[in-house]
Amino acid sequence: MAGLDPATHSRNKRGMETSANLKPLAARKTGPLKGIATAPGDKSVSHRALILGALAVGETCVTGLLEAEDVLRTAEAMVKLGAQIVREREGHWLIHGVGVGGFSEPADVLDFGNSGTGVRLTMGAVATTPVMTIFTGDASLRRRPMRRVLEPLALFGANATAREGGLLPVMLKGARSPAPVEHRLAVASAQVKSALLLAALNVPGTSTIIERAATRDHTERMLKAFGAEIEVETLPDGAAAISLTGEAELRPTPIAVPSDPSSAAFPLVAALIVPDSDVVIKGVMLNPRRIGLIETLKEMGADIQIRNIKDEGGESVGDLRVRHSALRGVEVPPERAPTMIDEYPVLGVAAAFAEGKTTMRGLEELRVKESDRLAAVAQGLQANGVKVEELADGMIVEGRADGSVAGGAEVLTHMDHRIAMSFLVMGLATRAPIRVDDSSMIATSFPNFESLMQSLGAQIARADR
Ligand code: S3P
Repeated sequence: MAGLDPATHSRNKRGMETSANLKPLAARKTGPLKGIATAPGDKSVSHRALILGALAVGETCVTGLLEAEDVLRTAEAMVKLGAQIVREREGHWLIHGVGVGGFSEPADVLDFGNSGTGVRLTMGAVATTPVMTIFTGDASLRRRPMRRVLEPLALFGANATAREGGLLPVMLKGARSPAPVEHRLAVASAQVKSALLLAALNVPGTSTIIERAATRDHTERMLKAFGAEIEVETLPDGAAAISLTGEAELRPTPIAVPSDPSSAAFPLVAALIVPDSDVVIKGVMLNPRRIGLIETLKEMGADIQIRNIKDEGGESVGDLRVRHSALRGVEVPPERAPTMIDEYPVLGVAAAFAEGKTTMRGLEELRVKESDRLAAVAQGLQANGVKVEELADGMIVEGRADGSVAGGAEVLTHMDHRIAMSFLVMGLATRAPIRVDDSSMIATSFPNFESLMQSLGAQIARADR
């Protein structure tokens, strides 16, 4: 079988650190948004499908794979580790896995670009196989903390050398004789949890990972679907103990990737804030650990109807009908954060169009995402005439529902796709247009964002310098 074809998959290797490659975009006040749209495949599920497919014995068929830069980096990494991966047609991929413990030492550095999920999950996947792997990423990823995953992986016997501060590039030597671990997660992170579960696959005996806050569970669900022995028990203190028995043989199973609720969030909030809008977003994944934004927006008075709920590949999916709504400020319960961790930038935008104050707390994690999202959102909102108080662990946004949010400023995106998309959504409803300094990184998660939004009537166009 042919490997990943560089001609088919060649993509613009964005030199994101030079201004010559920046792609500024502007969004301006738009008439009502109308129509039906389908958001692209879920990013979290897509990464996991590639990694588990690479670790299975035989051929895994994936449909609806998100063909965005972050996911393609993971595909490339799996090829460098020995898997064979073929793109048959759009979204339709075949992965010929090497089996648990079957990775071979990559002859080159694995470069994960902008993707924290790709790099951290792959660190876990190689940590208990005796190969040496070097990881790196773009300027944003090289600023993000890796100790959170490297320290617990050391419990299995893996040996890592990182740059000062636990930063990429990282050299990781997988354990030759790994021992099972019991570990309580220090941060509420599905990436760390997943890295440890993937490491535990190649360890004799049962490893247990304990999480206090319920983070997204795609890894657990998919491991079960591939035949791994995995059990979840609720402990007396309410935490979940996830036990996985290693030296597993993973059996290929077809994966249908549902639409990403974190991408659907952008047309969704756009429809809520642009007067007279009425939009349907089809086939959105409704995993209970991913829909905190919908819950919060409903509490704010959003008219969101969920229809045609069905089960697709072990996940519940449904169509969202969203109409422009008069929103009001709310206090978002901090314990909801893991179920909407990537949605706070766009919630900040919705809050700017809600009457009164919206308080968001318990969000220290947002400081170490693709950018410091608390600072980036607060600055972007303030620059565009919204009153915001930035807190150490959150923000308070004082919104107005009378359509009088000023706009008119440029937003610095700091190589963060969700900051770029959030402020382009905002510009559809502000008095003056909003411009983002760069939009090229939107391709990491939502390559057709611009055309999808335009198909609903949004006015988003290349901005002149
Ligand atoms: C992800 C987990 C989250 C999220 C990221 C995707 C995943 O990160 O922010 O975009 O696929 O596991 P953390 O687990 O670090 O919170």
